[in-house]
This record gives sequence, structure tokens and C-alpha cells, in this order.
Amino acid sequence: MTSLRNQDQAAAVYTLAEGRPVQDPTTSTVLRGPTVRGGGLALLEDTQLIETLAHFPRERIPERVVHAKAAGAWAEFECTKDITDITSANIFSEVGKKTKVLMRISTVAGEKGSPDTVRDIRGWAMKFFTDEGNYDIVGNDLPVFFIRDPIKFPSLNRSHKRHPQTNVADASMFWDFHNSNQEGVHCLMQLFGQRGVPASLRHINGYGVHTFKFGNPEDGTFKYVKIHFKPDAGVENLTDEESVRLAGEEPDFHVKDLYNAIEKGDYPTWTMYLQIMDPKEAENYRWNIFDATKIWPHKDYPLVPVGKLTLNKNPDNYFQDIEQAAFSPSTMIPGIGPSADIMLQARMFSYPDAARYRVGPNYQQIPCNKAKYVYSPYQRDGPGCINGNYGSDPDYVRSSFRKIKSGPADVAHDEWVGRVSAYSSEVTDEDFEQARDLWKIYLDTKDDENFINNLCGHLSKALPEVQKEAVKMFAKVDEEIGKRMEKRLDELSHIGPDHVKAPYGFMAAYGGGY
Ligand code: HEM
Repeated sequence: MTSLRNQDQAAAVYTLAEGRPVQDPTTSTVLRGPTVRGGGLALLEDTQLIETLAHFPRERIPERVVHAKAAGAWAEFECTKDITDITSANIFSEVGKKTKVLMRISTVAGEKGSPDTVRDIRGWAMKFFTDEGNYDIVGNDLPVFFIRDPIKFPSLNRSHKRHPQTNVADASMFWDFHNSNQEGVHCLMQLFGQRGVPASLRHINGYGVHTFKFGNPEDGTFKYVKIHFKPDAGVENLTDEESVRLAGEEPDFHVKDLYNAIEKGDYPTWTMYLQIMDPKEAENYRWNIFDATKIWPHKDYPLVPVGKLTLNKNPDNYFQDIEQAAFSPSTMIPGIGPSADIMLQARMFSYPDAARYRVGPNYQQIPCNKAKYVYSPYQRDGPGCINGNYGSDPDYVRSSFRKIKSGPADVAHDEWVGRVSAYSSEVTDEDFEQARDLWKIYLDTKDDENFINNLCGHLSKALPEVQKEAVKMFAKVDEEIGKRMEKRLDELSHIGPDHVKAPYGFMAAYGGGY
């Protein structure tokens, strides 16, 4: 990993930020009397010194409240299948069409400096710079989420972060949240399985998670879709032992791995797939398609390959291209629309809201976020306005001085909204069924032992009463899981507090949580 690519260039004349050439930017101007050796007085007229010191404490923007630690890259998307029968979205307008993409792959709970190889969901954020505006997919590397009601999102994340008193991640808090919000059991089964710690960001899946609408605004038709990206080089994971070691030896393991691969020209690629459902089938489908804790089994809706994604360029500057990037599920293009999943609906508010706070109200004007063509003169002025501000164009609606042409319609909302409003909080046996199917897969693939160990390694740090409730929750998935958990937790309790050093992973890797 090198950042010294420019060292052969000709020396640059250093200037003040206002452009005045500076004689020596490495030395302060000092007022020194003839008898004073080594000391002196700094001068208020030393603009270079003052600018240097004043800019430094203003270098940080707030880190993302979740998903703070990340790697990023530029990429290219190529359409490989004609799906103009289901969507007018222009990235799919013809086979071979290429679209520039910005990618950001993150962990969720840890801060900006936290280690990479922790057991956690990976965020999968993409921005397609299309001919009809930006299109963002803001997904994860697991196909389901912990909750289906957006009001629980801040609580979920606080329970995974630092305890308000001790300031360390806290297993009791983590498990207490999940014991009381058991719709997340399927996601927990995924997280504590093999896929909970990727070997590299080049070997993870990406999922849109929610159901979306792909359609044609011209004739009002649409299909429901789920979005999948699968790495062409396959999914690879770390064991807890490896992840704990790497978190100490090389906390930026994943960031470096991705950067180095791209720098060497070893570009990671993914195939994009869709699961496609007719709206009529959705109404009677076995699973509520607006519930982000559920998948659509592939046997019901097979994966249809539609494109190829290639990560092919490292950012020239991380802060400029990646830290200031703002992704949002609300950033959609004609032919793609939201479904009636209330989590998705709430997220469409939350991300632009976060970006206005984190980057500023004109965040869409920064090059990494800027769409190819923008004409939005009712949104102007504000800090950091750099887009020409629409000159003398009218800043009020329906002006007769400059007429506005209308664009394509949105994919319309249909009347059917599923069972989501009645369903968001109540937990029933239905919430355990897909977790049960996953357990059968773990038994078949012999991943069951690892799953029990990963789970109990973390849970054993929680208070005994919290452990008991978690065991009861997993026993509802399958009684065998409950029994095996009790046995493993008992073994761990005899090992004593030192088992933190044993290979049960992310606890050590991320101060006691994940
Ligand atoms: C980041 C809110 C659920 C994926 C964020 C951020 C917020 C947020 C406020 C920080 C954004 C920023 O500062 O730029 C929410 C809310 C959710 C929710 C309110 C539920 C109601 C989800 C789900 C997924 C997801 C279900 C995946 C399907 C991500 C990703 C990022 C992120 C990938 C990082 C984006 C980036 O790289 O900049 N979320 N989130 N979130 N969230 Fe969510």
C-alpha cells in the first residue's frame, strides 16, 4: 500500500490558501531580540502560521453515526441482460451499457478508527451516475435486517455500541435488545454464522435487502424486485481466531486489501442479480415482502443475472471522495421506486437528513455526489454553494420567465400495502421459520459447531439472566440450538474471565461488543 505516487512530480510553489506564494511554509516567523537564544514571540501577522493552526481543528466533519469505518472505490457497472420489459431505468437500457459507480463498504457499529475484522454487518453503498440522475443502492452484505420497524433503529444501534456509563460495548445490552425484539432472530443467525466476518471486502455479497419496484412510468406497470450482488471470486470468511488476531495485528486489514488489489489491477467483480415478482403474486405470497427480516427463497424466485460490477479505481483522496460521499435509499431514477416497506420509507428521510448535518445542506454539489445533469433552482444558496447558483433563473415555482419541462413520472404507488402496518412489532412463530431453515443449512454444511461457538462466545459476556433469555429465544428456532448453547455456555463459565482471550472473537476485537 503506497500513497507516494506523486513523488516524481516537479516541486510545487507553496501558497497560502488565498494563493499568495509563501517563502517558507515550514517555519514560523519569530520576533527575536539580540540576546534571546532559542525563544521569541510569534506574530499575529504570520498568516501562514495562523491559517495552519486554525484549519487543523476544523479538519473533521462528524463521522457517520453508524457505518463510520469504510473502504471506498470507483467502479463500473455494465448491463448484461435486456430487462427493458420490466424497467425503464436507463442503466439497463441496453446490453453493454456502462455506468460509473462510487462504492463505499463499511462496518456498522465501530467508530472510524475501529478494526475491520469484527463480526458485524458490512454496509454496501453504491452510487450510479446515470443519464437520468444518481441511483443509490444502500444495502448490506447480509440479506435480512434485525428490525422491521424504523422507530427501533436508534435503539438497535445504541445497544450494539458503547454503554452510556462504562463507554465500552456491552454484551448484556446487545442481547437484552435482541431478547426483547425477537423479529431479528433470523438476522442474528446469519451474523453469528460463517458470514459474520468476511475474509476480504472482495469476497462479500451485497443485498438491497428491501423490496423495490422496477417499472415503466410510461404505462404504469411494475414488478417487485430484490437486488443481489455476488462476488465472482466467491464468498470467503474468517474464523473468529483469525479475525481476533488480525484486528490486533492489522486493524485496517480490509481497507488495505481492497486498496492494494485495485492498485495492482486485480479488480474485484460482482454479478448483479434480481429476484423478480409479479405484484399479484406478492399479495398471496407466503412471506410478507415488506418485511426486511425475511428473504424470498431462491426456489420461489430464482436469481436473474442482469449486470456486472467492477471496482477499478482507488479514490484520489479518501476524504474528498468517500468521507464526503452521501448515499441515500431515496436517490432513485425513473423506472425504480420504493415499495411500501416502512423501514425503506423511513430511511428515505433519514439519509439526506444525516447528510445535511454531516456534510452540509449543499452536499449534492460536491463532486463525489454530483449528478451528471442537475437543474434544481428552487434549492439554492446555503453554505458552500459552488454550482453557479442558477444565476438569474427564477427561484420560485411556476415563473413565467423560465418555463420548466416535466420529466418522467415516478413508478406509482399501488393501493396494496401488504400486512406491514399491522405486523411491524408483533413477533410470531413466522419470525422463526426462516431462521429454522438456516439452521438446517448449518447442519448440512457442518457450520453448526462454529455457529454455536461464535454465538456463545459473545453471549457468555452477558449477565446470566440475559443469557437465559437468549437461549430461550434460540430454542424457539430449534430446541437443539438451545441445548447446545446451554452446554457451551456452561463450559465457558468454567473457563472464567480469561476466556475473553480465547478465540471467541470480536469481543476482543472490538472492546467487548461487535
Ligand atoms: C448509514 C439510518 C437501516 C445500510 C446510515 C446512516 C444513517 C442510517 C443515519 C448514516 C448516514 C450518513 O451519515 O451519511 C438508518 C435507518 C434505518 C437504517 C433510520 C432503519 C430504519 C439500514 C438498512 C440497511 C442500511 C436496513 C441495509 C439494507 C446502511 C449503509 C450505510 C448506512 C450501507 C452507510 C452508507 C455510507 O456508506 O455512507 N443509516 N439505516 N441501513 N446505512 Fe442505514
